[in-house]
Amino acid sequence: MKNISAHTYRPVSTGGLRIDHRDNRRVKVYIETYGCQMNVNDSEVVASVLADEGYGITKDMRQADLILVNTCSVRENAEQRIRGRLNVFRSEKRKRPGLLVGVIGCMAERLKEQLLEEEQIVDLVVGPDAYRDLPQLVRNAGTGQKAVNVLLSREETYSDISPVRMDSNGVSSFVSIMRGCNNRCTYCIVPYTRGVERSRSSETILREVGELVEAGYREVTLLGQNVDSYRMQQNGTTVSFAHLLQAVAETSPLLRVRFATSHPKDMTDELLHVMAACPNICKSIHLPVQSGSTRILELMRRRYTREWYLERTDAIRRILSDCSISTDIIAGFCTETEEDHRDTLSLMRQVHFDYAFMFKYSVRPHTPAAKEMNNDVPEDVKSARLQEIIDLQKQLSEKSKQRYIGQTVEVLAESVSKKSQEKLSGRTSQNMVTVFPAKRYAPRDYVRVRITGCTPATLLGEAESS
Ligand code: SAH
Ligand code: SF4
Ligand code: F3S
Repeated sequence: MKNISAHTYRPVSTGGLRIDHRDNRRVKVYIETYGCQMNVNDSEVVASVLADEGYGITKDMRQADLILVNTCSVRENAEQRIRGRLNVFRSEKRKRPGLLVGVIGCMAERLKEQLLEEEQIVDLVVGPDAYRDLPQLVRNAGTGQKAVNVLLSREETYSDISPVRMDSNGVSSFVSIMRGCNNRCTYCIVPYTRGVERSRSSETILREVGELVEAGYREVTLLGQNVDSYRMQQNGTTVSFAHLLQAVAETSPLLRVRFATSHPKDMTDELLHVMAACPNICKSIHLPVQSGSTRILELMRRRYTREWYLERTDAIRRILSDCSISTDIIAGFCTETEEDHRDTLSLMRQVHFDYAFMFKYSVRPHTPAAKEMNNDVPEDVKSARLQEIIDLQKQLSEKSKQRYIGQTVEVLAESVSKKSQEKLSGRTSQNMVTVFPAKRYAPRDYVRVRITGCTPATLLGEAESS
C-alpha cells in the first residue's frame, strides 16, 4: 500500500482484522480507497472507528454487510471511475438486498445529498470530517433511513485515533499531521472537500510514531496538503514543520522519515537544513510546480513565479547533496498557450525532475477557475501537450536512474518482489524503487545494494556482503 502514489487511483482493499464483537450481529465492512495518501490514511481511521464499535473488516467484498468507498474528486475521471465501481456494488446489492453501501471522503463532501438521488444504491454519505459519527450513521442506515453527515470541522484531526494499519507491509506507514487546505489554487477542489487547514498536535503525532517504531515499522511518511504550513502551539512555543520533522527523526535512528506535500511558496531553507542534518530524513522532496509559466501560475493562484520555483530547487541542490525532486504538472489550464507549454517543458529540463505526476486540466465545479475562467484549451491540444510532457519526463526519469549505476546505495527492504520470491523490493533514500536478490536479507533490513542496471521504473542491483 505504501506504493500508492500521491495521486494514483488504484483501489486499495483492506486487510483482515480480529475484532472483539460487542453486539451479536457480526457486521463485516469492506473498505475500498481511491485518491491520495491522505485518503489511504483516512480509511485506516475509519477502520479504527468501526473496529472500536465491534465491526469486523473484510478483504472480500462478497462477505461484506457494508461496503464503504472512500472517494476522490480531484479530477473528473477520478469520479467517473468511482461511479463505475458503484455500478458493480449495485449488482452486488441486487443479489443481497440487505447490503449497505456508503460513499465517504471527498466525493461525499462535494455532492452531499445529491449522491443519494443520483446513485440510488447509496445508503450513507459521510464527509472526511464526520468519521466519528460513522457507527451512528451505520445504525441509522441499518434501519432503512438514509444517513448523511457532511459537516466540515475547524478542529477535527482524529488526533487521538490509532489508525488500523490495513494491508500494511509492516515496514512503512502514513501519519497525517494536518488536514484541509487554505490555499485555494483556482483549479482545485480540495479546499472545498477537505475544509480549512488545521494542524494535529505534535504530541499525538510523536506518540503515534513511537508506537509504530515499537511495532517494528521502519518508515513513516508525514502527510498534509501543505506540510510547510504546519504550526502548533506547544508549551508556549510554536512548533514549525521543520521542528516537527526533526523531532520525528529523533524518535529512532532506525526510522526513515518522509513527508508530502511541500508547497513551493512555503518550503524554507530551515527545513532543508534539518534534512541535511538528519541522515534518517529521506532525501526526496515532492514539490508540485503545476506549470512553468509565471502567467499561468498567477492564474492558478499558486503564489510563486517560475523564478521563485527555480530558486527553491537550486536551494535543494545547494543544501542537500543528493536529493530527488518530484513534481505534479497540469497540462492545458485555462488560456495556456503553446509558449506557456514550452515554458513548462523547459522548466522540467532545467530542474531535471526525477519523477512526475502529470495530468490534463479538469474543470471542477464551483472552483474559481470553473466560475471565472474559460476552459478554452481544446481537448486534443491538452492531450498532445500532456503526451509531450509525459515523453519528456520518461527521458528525465530514465537518466536520473542511470546515474546510480555503479554506485552503492542504502535500501530499506520493504517486501518480497512481486515478480520473484527470491528477490526483495525496497526504496533508496531518494525514493527509487530497488529490486535485488534477497540472499540472507528480509523486509525491515537496511541493505547496501550495488546498482548494476535499471528498468524505466526500477533500479536493479546486488546486495553487498558486509
Ligand atoms: N496539495 C498538493 C496536491 C493536491 S492535489 C499541492 O498543492 O500540490 C494533487 C495534484 O492534483 C495537484 O498537485 C495537481 O497537479 C492535480 N490537480 C488538482 N486539481 C486538478 C484539476 N482540476 N485538474 C487537473 N489536475 C489537478
Ligand atoms: Fe489544492 Fe492548492 Fe491546496 Fe494543493 S495547495 S490542495 S493544489 S488548493
Ligand atoms: Fe485527496 Fe482526492 Fe480528496 S486527492 S484530498 S482524495 S479530492
